[in-house]
Amino acid sequence: MEKQNRASFGGKLSVILVAAGSAIGLGAIWRFPYIAGENGGAAFLLVFMLSIFAVGIPAMLAEFAVGRRSRKNAVGAFRSLAKRWSWLGYSGVLGALLISGYYYLIAGWSLEYLVSSLTGSLYNSDIAFTQQFADFQDSWLPLIYGVIFILMTHFIVSRGVEKGIEKASKIMMPMLFIILIIMAIRVAFMPNAMEGYRFFLSCDFKEAFKAETIMMAIGQAFFSLSVGMGCMVTYASYFKNNNNLITTSFNVSLLTLLVSVLAGLVIFPAVFSAGLQPTEGPSLIFVTLPEIFKGMPFASLWSAIFFFLVMLASLTSTISFHEVLTAYFSEELKLSRLAAAITTTVVSIALSLLTFSSLFGIDYLNFFDKLTANVIMPLGAMFTCVLAVWFMGNKFMKEELTNFGQCNKNISRIFIFMLRYVTPVLIFYIFIKNLI
Ligand code: PHE
Repeated sequence: MEKQNRASFGGKLSVILVAAGSAIGLGAIWRFPYIAGENGGAAFLLVFMLSIFAVGIPAMLAEFAVGRRSRKNAVGAFRSLAKRWSWLGYSGVLGALLISGYYYLIAGWSLEYLVSSLTGSLYNSDIAFTQQFADFQDSWLPLIYGVIFILMTHFIVSRGVEKGIEKASKIMMPMLFIILIIMAIRVAFMPNAMEGYRFFLSCDFKEAFKAETIMMAIGQAFFSLSVGMGCMVTYASYFKNNNNLITTSFNVSLLTLLVSVLAGLVIFPAVFSAGLQPTEGPSLIFVTLPEIFKGMPFASLWSAIFFFLVMLASLTSTISFHEVLTAYFSEELKLSRLAAAITTTVVSIALSLLTFSSLFGIDYLNFFDKLTANVIMPLGAMFTCVLAVWFMGNKFMKEELTNFGQCNKNISRIFIFMLRYVTPVLIFYIFIKNLI
């Protein structure tokens, strides 16, 4: 009965856009370009691609299989496959909670910058951008914009899986691609753009194959592909039986890769063209880029377009971890969908408040980020792989990857082999190295 009533995403394209929406976010646009630029450029890209193939795609496939087979929220999914594994679902829910504790705040920054670009206040002031960013951080505004972001997410998720999440992704994802391509073309015509391409695409293999770089690449693959915390399990519970899981995971990964590269092709040429240095983390987007826009005709317009892009990318990601929690609350606590979405929203606001207030002097943003990216996601992904191929036996993944014999069996064999012998071992190795 529950199975028949459960929502499902429309066609193949919807499934890809929704999952890519979760994957493509701050990870691709904000985190990737900087890490790549500093860790061997194009060579890092190669290591990142290998990580996606060896770790990201197999782990995503295991999650897809778990979600689609059980058609339940993260906790219910693991429990229904194997009672003793339900803790994996709880670890996913915990991951979603921790991410909610900081992601909205950063996403809110893009909203503030969008608004101040539109009103012109970002560019009409004499205060340096570094100072503007610091002043903004010192005010209540990050919390206010973070809460607005949560409410926007709430609005979409509470409308439901098809009318909310699917529809929003189908509108926002194509928009995101168009804007990114326009920006990349615009930037190519800036003076000195070549230098930026050279920085981003320089090929330093010595840098790229260091253990530390490989760890970063794998961490980036987890975060960027949203694997290891029940997100793809929850989304796959809305997939149809004839959706091809392997093609879906490939398309999602390729799109994520494409956006990561395009983001680098926008940011670095712009940075070098303005004669600036590519700096680390938040300031790259919120300080350096405004500096560049300022020197361009229609500064406010380009700036607004860019921050709109960051906002779109973040929003399709926030709805995915909001949905992990909403589905959990609704199915496990037997709440209506609206009540579950409201619960998630209230909890997300409370967590953002905690992070914003740095209660007891703790840097929650960093703590939550490290805990999810370095512990919860790798372990979650590793154990999901172990469950899917070792615990569930031979048939389970074979059936899910071939849609019960309807799709190519040889490709599925490759992934089952990787899931058995390569992916979990690699994750474990990296996890231990990371701990030491
Ligand atoms: N993949 C998202 C990004 O790159 C972040 C995310 C992680 C979303 C885990 C959902 C779950 O921004």
